[in-house]
Order: sequence, then C-alpha cells, then structure tokens
Amino acid sequence: MSDKRAIGVFDSGMGGLTVARALRERLPHEDIVYLGDTARLPYGTKSPATVTAYALQATRALMKHDVKMVVIACNTASSVALEPLAHDLAPLQVVGVVEPGARAGLAATKTGRIGVLATESTVRGGAYLRAIRKYNPDTRIVQQACALFVALAEEGWTDGEIAHAAAARYLSPLFQTPSEAPDTLILGCTHFPVLAPAIAHVLGDTVTLVDSAATTAAAVAEALTKEQMTNDERHPGQNHFMATDGTERFARLGGLFFGQPIAPEDVELVDLQAGLSTTVQASP
Ligand code: DGL
Repeated sequence: MSDKRAIGVFDSGMGGLTVARALRERLPHEDIVYLGDTARLPYGTKSPATVTAYALQATRALMKHDVKMVVIACNTASSVALEPLAHDLAPLQVVGVVEPGARAGLAATKTGRIGVLATESTVRGGAYLRAIRKYNPDTRIVQQACALFVALAEEGWTDGEIAHAAAARYLSPLFQTPSEAPDTLILGCTHFPVLAPAIAHVLGDTVTLVDSAATTAAAVAEALTKEQMTNDERHPGQNHFMATDGTERFARLGGLFFGQPIAPEDVELVDLQAGLSTTVQASP
C-alpha cells in the first residue's frame, strides 16, 4: 500500500529549502509541496502570537494540497507554534525542526558544551535549551541571536567579506573564554546552513557545525514508514513551490538553499492573508 499525497513543508522564506533538500535526498519517491512566506519574512523578530498566526495560515495553505504531513522547516515557528499547530491539524502529523536539531547537537558534542545560533525569537523562547536539557540536563549551552544572517542568506551573500564580518561579530563572544567555548554549534535557523562556509572561515575546523535538516528528514522518513504512508518506490518525487511574494527572486536564489535549480514557472504566487491559498495574478 502506498500513500501518494505530498509532504507539506513551510518556512518564512527560502531557508526551509535546506530541510526540503534533505527530504528530497532522503525520500526520493515523495512529492514535496513547499511554501515560503516571503512576503512576511522575517519571522525571527516577531512575537510568538504573530508567528503562530502566520504558521497556521501557512499550514492551511499546504492542506489545500492534501498533504499527508506538515514539516515546519523553520526553527522560529517550530519553537512557538508546534503545539498549537499539532492541535489544530490533528490527526495530521506535524514535525518541527528544533528537536531533531537538538539531537544532532548532542550527537556531535564531545565536551558537552553546545552553542546555539538562532533568530531572536528562538533564543528568547528557549526551545533549544529545553530540547537539549530533556536529553542531557548537564549540557552547557550558550545561545546567540544572529538576525543579520537571515538577511544575508536571503540576499545570497553567504560568503565573502560581509558574511565573514557578521560571523566574527556574532561568534566572538562565544569563544572569549577558551575553557568555556562550545565544541559544537547548532545552526538553529534553517537559513544558516548556507552560511556554514563563512562561519567555518571565522572558527576554523575546531568547532563542529550541525543543523536539523538531515535529522528532520530521518524523523519524517521514520514516521512515514511507521504509519505505512510512504509513496510508491517507482514514483519519482515531484517538487511544487509556493511563495507569498517575489516568485522570480525565490526561483533565482532558492537553488542555493535547495541544492538544485528552481525554475520560475515552478513557483506559484499565493496569498495567505486572504485566508485562501488562491493563485493571484500580480506580477512577481
Ligand atoms: N528560517 C527561519 C528559522 O529557522 C526564520 C528566519 C526568519 O524568518 O527570521 O528560524
């Protein structure tokens, strides 16, 4: 028995494509419907109430595509909206990225000192602190909000002088006292994996960088298998993209995050605020 329905994935913008990329690699037979709420990015500086409202609208748009599962490919939304979404969408399964990210960090650290780089909202909400301490209460965790990384990633400025300067500015406080420095950094925002080269440029190879993409894809694969909801193994998985603004830009820069080109005609413009995920006719 196979379940042909797509996996729904959403983020505030293109960052969640790093998770979609891992899903595409791990689950080559699954269809993916991705929504980037580019009109309202960033989520990471907004209040939990606003992010939760946006996340509910995004998932409802995905459900119009009859998805079999929703992946919140945004740490900010996972931090504040996983529970309300799971409640609102039940019995549909909702998977967030914070728990898989925390597990990836714990698997990588040797010293038990982990740094979390995230948006302001994720840092303020402390979801990573709770998720890591649930597994190991003795872990020493230091958090750093890196709001500018989101803008740099969306701009495609992922390496070079400006990215290096931003990385140095954000990271230096974490490494001031060598005996307390983390040996592992969790990239706790789905936009940050594309900045890994800039972060590595500043830190060298003494620190392990992990993110939640591969562990989230593994959690999704496990859940689909367990519920016997995988697609037919002869089916080549298809991708469908939606954005709430700038579809041409989404296609142009999205490939950087997704790891393969995205054709402009494959990106649908949708309006979440109308409460209906209808295709609108405005130019990109
Ligand atoms: N990519 C999102 C995250 O993982 C948020 C970026 C933003 O909208 O601020 O947190």
